[in-house]
Amino acid sequence: MISFYDVAPSFCAPHPASPLRVVVVPGDGIGPEVVRPAVKALEVLARRFDFELRLSTRPWSAEHYLATGETLPAGAIEQLRREADGILLGALGDPRVPDHRHAEEILLGLRFGLDLYLNYRPVRLMAEELGVLKGRGPADVAFAIFRENTEGLYANVGGRLHGGGGHEVAIQEAVYTRLGVERILRAAFQQATRWGAPLCLADKANAVRHGHGLWRRVFGELAQEFPQVDARASYADAVAAEMVMAPQRFGVLVAPNLLGDVLSDLGAALAGGLGLAPSASLHPGRPGLFEPVHGSAPDIAGQGISNPSATLLSAALLLAVNGHQAAARALDQAVVEVLQFGPRTPELGGSASTEEVSAAVLERLEVTEAAGV
Ligand code: NAD
Ligand code: IPM
Ligand code: MN
Repeated sequence: MISFYDVAPSFCAPHPASPLRVVVVPGDGIGPEVVRPAVKALEVLARRFDFELRLSTRPWSAEHYLATGETLPAGAIEQLRREADGILLGALGDPRVPDHRHAEEILLGLRFGLDLYLNYRPVRLMAEELGVLKGRGPADVAFAIFRENTEGLYANVGGRLHGGGGHEVAIQEAVYTRLGVERILRAAFQQATRWGAPLCLADKANAVRHGHGLWRRVFGELAQEFPQVDARASYADAVAAEMVMAPQRFGVLVAPNLLGDVLSDLGAALAGGLGLAPSASLHPGRPGLFEPVHGSAPDIAGQGISNPSATLLSAALLLAVNGHQAAARALDQAVVEVLQFGPRTPELGGSASTEEVSAAVLERLEVTEAAGV
């Protein structure tokens, strides 16, 4: 059985963190408006479940970069390692920074700087009517993507030659290390064991022979070590089709960085859309990065109609990873109930604002708080 808040213990705090030290990075576009309710939810839950919450905010964003030139300041990673249990991030990306420099240095800077090698992305249909697949319900769309988060094409190894002209060359190397491949695959095998769920590796070993060949070999070795796991390796293009045609076959779906990125937006769509999909980037013993799968959504930024659910659920993952399981589940339940009963934001066919949906979630948390449940 898949319990989305039951992440492998090695990635989680052994005891509930109190104070729980959360660094908040609202970021760009819809980031600030979806982070605001998530912070409020954490505040309500800290009171209700009686733990101390210490929040601090960082201005890292396009606005800040354009005004000051600063992206991720020197020393930030070391400070986060000392002073944070989790980072709650909205999104980064702004049309005013077309080369994505600030987003790359802040977002990928955090993932790489903290070596957050597991990007955990649940694919979970929370209400039948949110689904896009004919005849498929919540029992069919319930699996987790384990995306490798520190290597592959994102390592940004390469360069350009003969810039700009007809002879221009661009080289982008994919980097795979045995250590990097083994640790994410091991995490996936452990999670599949924990959940008693099938495991699938999605790669392109038929074309990316050297790099993904390494993934296949290490996967085969671990399959011997974990004989209890129902494990298979498939090509990612076929996996994309299978996710749509037979999502019920997946339990843990592990993939290299770029493939995991693409498959996780597909997964979000199967579960009702990008506004609903949370994620956690993790490394044992380090502060995790908790953020929605979606981006800064410039097309709807500033309109107050973004769905805060993905960020609220990311905050629930932050709580769970830091030992506050009951608080995580209470937040999850409030979000799921509002998704089921409304109000809903426009991309789900509703007409409610971000604020109205957020208020409905907070109200559920507060009512239960007042009732002492
Ligand atoms: P996006 O996820 O921002 O938006 C894709 C579509 O989904 C848009 O139509 C958007 O309106 C919709 N959408 C996304 N989140 C929503 C929400 N919460 N509620 C309702 N609708 C929502 O992807 P994009 O347009 O490709 O990227 C925009 C910018 O965000 C780019 O700069 C990109 O690099 C960046 N980005 C950042 C992150 C991150 O910070 N983790 C993730 C993805 C993309
Ligand atoms: C995500 C995003 C990022 C990624 C971008 C903004 C670099 O798409 O978090 O999924 O590719 O990892
Ligand atoms: Mn993505």
